[in-house]
Amino acid sequence: MLNIVTDAHLRIVVTLRSPTDDSLALHILERPAVTFPRLSLTPCSPLNPTGSPYNMPSLSEFQDGWRVWDLITLGMIPPSLLHSKPIDLRHKPLFYMGHLPTFLNLLMTAYLKERPVEPVRFTSIFERGIDPHVDDPEYCHSHSEVPEKDEDWPALGEVLAYRDRVRERLMRLYEEVKKGERPLTRRLARTLVMVLEHDGFHIETLLYILIQRAGTGMLPPPGFATPPWKHLAAQWDATPAPTTPYATLGPCTLTMGHDDQEPDDLLPEFTNAVAGHDFGWDNESPKRTVSVGQFNISWRPVTNGDFLDFWRGAGKDRVGLPPSWVLDSDSEDSEVSVRALYGSVPMDVARHWPVLTAYDDLVAYAASKGGRIPTEPELRLFLDTYQVGYEEGANMGFRNWHPMPATAGGEKDEGRGSNGGVWEWTSTLFDMHEGFAGTSIFPGYSSDFYDTKHQVVLGASYATIPRLGERCTVRNFYQHNYPYPWVGARVAYDC
Ligand SMILES: [Fe+2]
Repeated sequence: MLNIVTDAHLRIVVTLRSPTDDSLALHILERPAVTFPRLSLTPCSPLNPTGSPYNMPSLSEFQDGWRVWDLITLGMIPPSLLHSKPIDLRHKPLFYMGHLPTFLNLLMTAYLKERPVEPVRFTSIFERGIDPHVDDPEYCHSHSEVPEKDEDWPALGEVLAYRDRVRERLMRLYEEVKKGERPLTRRLARTLVMVLEHDGFHIETLLYILIQRAGTGMLPPPGFATPPWKHLAAQWDATPAPTTPYATLGPCTLTMGHDDQEPDDLLPEFTNAVAGHDFGWDNESPKRTVSVGQFNISWRPVTNGDFLDFWRGAGKDRVGLPPSWVLDSDSEDSEVSVRALYGSVPMDVARHWPVLTAYDDLVAYAASKGGRIPTEPELRLFLDTYQVGYEEGANMGFRNWHPMPATAGGEKDEGRGSNGGVWEWTSTLFDMHEGFAGTSIFPGYSSDFYDTKHQVVLGASYATIPRLGERCTVRNFYQHNYPYPWVGARVAYDC
């Protein structure tokens, strides 16, 4: 049923079940501005003859991403927010509106060895964003020099016209390849994969920046009905807890990553070997084998309700207020609301959603329970075993514009279920591994962050495109004390 809905470009707003007949349900649907197709239906084409979902992206994949990007940038950011900085450690929204076309422009230019789409000065303003150390905001890898005064930035209309010209260049490139005027090489395919997935990551990061202004400037997603919160909360309250406290996994040998080394692209035997190849980022390769001991791991991530008890109790004075929460007043016993893109919702509505906060604070929570945050291999093993995919109902790909309660650990499907639609922290430091070969197309993509500050993060949020959320080799990374991204955690215990 879910896949029929997805294939028809619809989404479920709410499902009402018959109180007397389990087999009866009424699904209330809407046709939103954006839906993402199932990856298993990736069509075979001359550019991607095997229909592999991680191969050369089709133009329609780009257009799906553009649709959601335009919906956010043009439909959710009023002019008053264009030059605002909802998060100090990130740029203003206008920067990101210029950044995505600039990234595409620069990578196409580098590959095609032609002049960039005009104006060239935009490439220096919008080339690279900022990601300073939380502890020392002066420390930042190289990034674009941007105008200091609002009035010195390009006007929105100029940025949008530039965006359109760059997109047109990409569309022409697809035409050139289709007509055989330009060979499809592995390096070209990789360049386009990188641009598409870079767009995907930025869609989500822009949203976690903007949500800080939800209800105070940012507009809710147009064309997506406001969820019937009260009704959903009653359903979520009635959902049974897992049947056991945690899953036990291991010992085992786990294979992580895949073999997709970028330097191979330039070897004669691989130059044109695109068909059937799965592309990824540099930190996903090469394939490696690790041993995982036996451990216990909670079925579901720590919820807002769990963390609220800790924050008010044992964690008082030890952990900060998650920026995904809002205090309703200045008083010490203030009620807490939870940020959503439709505006904050009462804790009673979001109590069962995974909490989104900094790694350090979730480490403190796990320790208070006698546990710890799982390592990357442990979490990978858990997700490979129990996490459902997009086609089985995982909360990713804008199926909803908010987290949901996790469902893993239930009686059905041997405990398999969704984690609720959040990334998850691991205790593994993001670092070099044997055989790592850094990308030359986007130098420093990973290696700039091998700085002992970043933790590996796995999974996918509700705002992650399925291509990134489904590929089990994808690794994301954030600073351990950066509390804004949509990352939660579950607790592991030694056996
Ligand atoms: Fe970027």
